[in-house]
Amino acid sequence: MDQLIKVFATGPLPKQVKEKLARFADLKSWEEPTEISEEHLLEQIKDRTAVICLLGDKMSAEVMDAAPELKLIANVAVGFDNVDLVHAKKRGILVVNTPGVLDNATADLAFALLLACARRIVEADQYVRNHEWQGWRTDLLLGSELSGKTLGIVGMGRIGEAMARRGLGFGMKIIYTRKGNEEKDHRLTRELSARRVSLPELISSSDFISIHSPLNHETRHLIGKVELSRVKKHCILINTARGAVVDQKALIAALQDGKLAGAGLDVFEDEPKVPDELIALKNVVIVPHIGSATSETRTAMANLAMEGLLTAFSERLPENTVNKDVWPLFLERLKVGASR
Ligand code: DGY
Repeated sequence: MDQLIKVFATGPLPKQVKEKLARFADLKSWEEPTEISEEHLLEQIKDRTAVICLLGDKMSAEVMDAAPELKLIANVAVGFDNVDLVHAKKRGILVVNTPGVLDNATADLAFALLLACARRIVEADQYVRNHEWQGWRTDLLLGSELSGKTLGIVGMGRIGEAMARRGLGFGMKIIYTRKGNEEKDHRLTRELSARRVSLPELISSSDFISIHSPLNHETRHLIGKVELSRVKKHCILINTARGAVVDQKALIAALQDGKLAGAGLDVFEDEPKVPDELIALKNVVIVPHIGSATSETRTAMANLAMEGLLTAFSERLPENTVNKDVWPLFLERLKVGASR
């Protein structure tokens, strides 16, 4: 590494990540308890060559252009819908993310939401706390069984597969949608007896639907009014991917009308805002985007983002690069920077 990397981290980093980074970089970070505002970000990023950011930070063209020397964005998330990749390419800014390290944590949370909805855990907890419990009854807080039911996974990537394995462990049948060739489908049939289906078939045959697609122009509002009108009446929807993969207005209407029996939601269209209509619904379990929130996983994510950053500035292409086509331009900019 010929030059000291000037890094700005938009949130606090784990101690060991900070210590390693400090050996190679001049590190500044946002340590306030609230998310950094765009105004502060524009100010802090000005002289930086790299930024370590979080999924709530909009890495827009304006933000990138506030930092003429910016060469790399390390997004501490696997999803990168917060980064304007078109502009990053124009500017020769490499983007790295954190794939692979949060699959189990996110699938755990998705499955926890599924169980919480199916067995009405939150409602039952409130019932006891409200001193409503009068004694055992055969019809008290009946939920639905998982065994033998169909779990539809929308987007069978790494996290979707981890979710499917959990479903299989509970005796569920797995169907899924995904993009790509059939090689992986053969393995998934062999290992999970899982079947690839079309989205309409998944929608109409699943008892539980769990969303695991990334958010992009093809998946925005992938599940909308039409899809929600075709689900089974007792269907429960789980979303730990991105809020906007589901049309939130249509989701609220389907839950209010009883077209959809329940939902377990970790993600929302305009985080951290959660509509009052959703909060008012008893058949919804809501958590604040904590899919990857285990100590182990959050450390692994910060570490992977940092390693991607250090690898790239050592002139080696990180495996976790999102926009590999930018690599030649990144290298060129790195050399120009070093010769100054
Ligand atoms: C991600 O990494 O994209 C997840 O949403 C974090 O929980």
